[in-house]
Amino acid sequence: MRVCVCATPEQATARVVARIARTVRENPRAVLGLATGGTMEPVYRGLIEAHRAGLGFAGVTSFNLDEYVGLDPAHPQSYHSYMRRHFFDHVDIPADRRFLPCGDCDPAEAAAIFEARLEQHGPVDLQLLGLGHNGHIGFNEPGSSLGSLTREKTLTRRTRDANARFFRPGEVPPQSAITMGIATIMRARSIVLLALGAAKAEAVAEVVEGPVTAFCPGSALQYHRDVSVILDEGAAKDLRLVEHYREAELLMSRRAS
Ligand code: GLP
Repeated sequence: MRVCVCATPEQATARVVARIARTVRENPRAVLGLATGGTMEPVYRGLIEAHRAGLGFAGVTSFNLDEYVGLDPAHPQSYHSYMRRHFFDHVDIPADRRFLPCGDCDPAEAAAIFEARLEQHGPVDLQLLGLGHNGHIGFNEPGSSLGSLTREKTLTRRTRDANARFFRPGEVPPQSAITMGIATIMRARSIVLLALGAAKAEAVAEVVEGPVTAFCPGSALQYHRDVSVILDEGAAKDLRLVEHYREAELLMSRRAS
């Protein structure tokens, strides 16, 4: 794992944007794995800016991690809508190469179709990940099999409460979602996880320095050969080896320049 601690959330976000942009520049037909959540909104703003400055996405294929069960694509809080609002409506990824699990289909069928599309167009070259407060990646909640594929997962109360802020007052957030599994995510060639703020520090420490356990699904990333964990100071505050990660980054950046 490469752990990069940036001074500010803006710098951490810019680093992720630069990494995605470089992937697309080097391989205009790249397959991107995309994520949702508040952390990703500025990432998409940065990518839209890069697009306006000339970065083309016309050859790109994208796969999103997850979608709420029971929300149709037009529902404002569906991840279909999120992606259109924050990214797809502003760039040129062709509509027939943007894949999200179907939220208003039979969940088992939707999951099978999504895995088949991944087989057909994958593997994902670069998978973007956020992190839940309980260590979830995608919607793989604690207890998710580390060998899991795309399927329906019941959301924990903590996750539903955390995501309730995106729903209208009084609206009950969905109780389950279809999510890429841990094994699905692990098939990506490279993975970039972005976590910002002190509220994520405990989960970050468990992902990076804790034991590999289904109790903290993100910890499975320790088995992946090409993972970068991009953090701000707040999210890094509980890491025991933080000074070591800083030194390693300094060495790597000196070598690169
Ligand atoms: C949701 C998404 C995750 C995301 C997480 C964190 O649960 N399914 O993919 O990582 O939210 O979201 P935020 O960035 O809003 O903290």
